Formats: sequence, C-alpha cells, structure tokens
Amino acid sequence: MTALTLDIPHSPLPPGVALEAAALHAAAFEGLERPYSAAELAAICDGRTGFLLTASDAAPDLPVQPPLVGFVAFRVVEDDAEILVVAVAPTDQRRGIGTQLVAAAEDRARELGAERMFLEVAETNHPARALYLGAGYAEMGRRKHYYRRPNGQREDALMLHRRL
Ligand SMILES: CC(C)(COP(=O)(O)OP(=O)(O)OC[C@H]1O[C@@H](n2cnc3c(N)ncnc32)[C@H](O)[C@@H]1OP(=O)(O)O)[C@@H](O)C(=O)NCCC(=O)NCCS
Repeated sequence: MTALTLDIPHSPLPPGVALEAAALHAAAFEGLERPYSAAELAAICDGRTGFLLTASDAAPDLPVQPPLVGFVAFRVVEDDAEILVVAVAPTDQRRGIGTQLVAAAEDRARELGAERMFLEVAETNHPARALYLGAGYAEMGRRKHYYRRPNGQREDALMLHRRL
C-alpha cells in the first residue's frame, strides 16, 4: 500500500492548501465538472461540519510536505456523514490513494459520532463506482438528471451509503 501522509488542515483552510486542492480538483475532473474555486473549498470545509482531508506521499526526511496527491471533502452532521468529493491527481490514480482517503474520512466521521456515510456518484463514473463498491457502499436511490456536464448534457446520480 502507498505510504501517505493524511492530514486535516486546521480551519480556516490555509490559502496555499485551498489553492492546491482546487488545482487538483480541476485536473481530476477536467471535462466532467466545473472545478471548485479555492474560496468555495474553504467555505465548504469550514472545520465545523465540513472537512478537507488531504493526502501527500509520505516523506519523513523532507522538511516540507510534498505536493498533494489527493483529497476528500466530507461533511458530518450528528450521526450522518456525506462524502462531497474525492479527487486524486491524474498521474497518481490507481495507487490506492482514493481507497485510503475514503477510509480515513470514514474513520474521522465515526470519531465525530457519525453512523452512516452517504454520497452521490455519476452513473457513468465507473472508476469511482468501482472504488465505492470495493469500500462497501450500496446503492439506495437515483437522482434523475442531477449532473449538468460542461457540454450541456444531463446525467443521473446514484445515491450510495454504508454503515460506519
Ligand atoms: C475515482 C478516483 C477518486 C479513484 O481514485 P484512485 O486513487 O485511482 O483509486 P484506487 O487506486 O484506490 O482504486 C480503488 C479501486 O477502484 C477501482 N478503480 C479506480 N480507478 C479505476 C479506473 N480508472 N478504472 C476502473 N476501475 C478503477 C478499482 O477497482 C480499484 O482497485 P484496483 O486498483 O485494486 O483494481 C479517481 O479516479 C479520481 O480522482 N477521479 C476523478 C474524480 C472523481 O471522479 N471522483 C469521484 C467522484 S466524487
């Protein structure tokens, strides 16, 4: 398994982290979704109910943290939690980073008292669906025409959940 440094930066999000995560989001979702701006990410991940959990390659001998390779944004409200977005840098995909990020978000949500995790995923997003299936998520519904693609097309979202 890839050795990662997983971190929940303090709130408010340091501007450098928000900018780096926004750039990573734009690269991971290119052609699929409008990217979050750094300001939007900082507003969502306010450290009260919304959290950003970042992943970098572990580099214990370096004095600075290496660049982000992925992040997960998630929300916890009492016993319900929701994964808002998971993104792994295109050059770092298929290294198990997405799996580790989802597991780390679940651990943190559980610590905060959540009993269930929910998320939405586009029906045609087969990499993400495979990741969530492998992580134990089950389908519980569908939101018709939930996503609007940059080319104007609409796509259904599948609603998934698992007990924590
Ligand atoms: C979806 C995403 C987060 C997966 O991250 P990742 O770090 O590559 O995932 P992992 O390496 O942990 O893969 C876990 C499993 O998911 C499946 N999977 C991941 N990428 C896949 C791909 N491109 N094709 C088919 N299956 C894939 C595989 O079953 C994989 O296990 P395996 O490598 O042992 O076969 C990443 O592809 C991404 O950032 N995509 C763009 C953004 C996005 O769609 N986010 C999710 C919606 S919010």
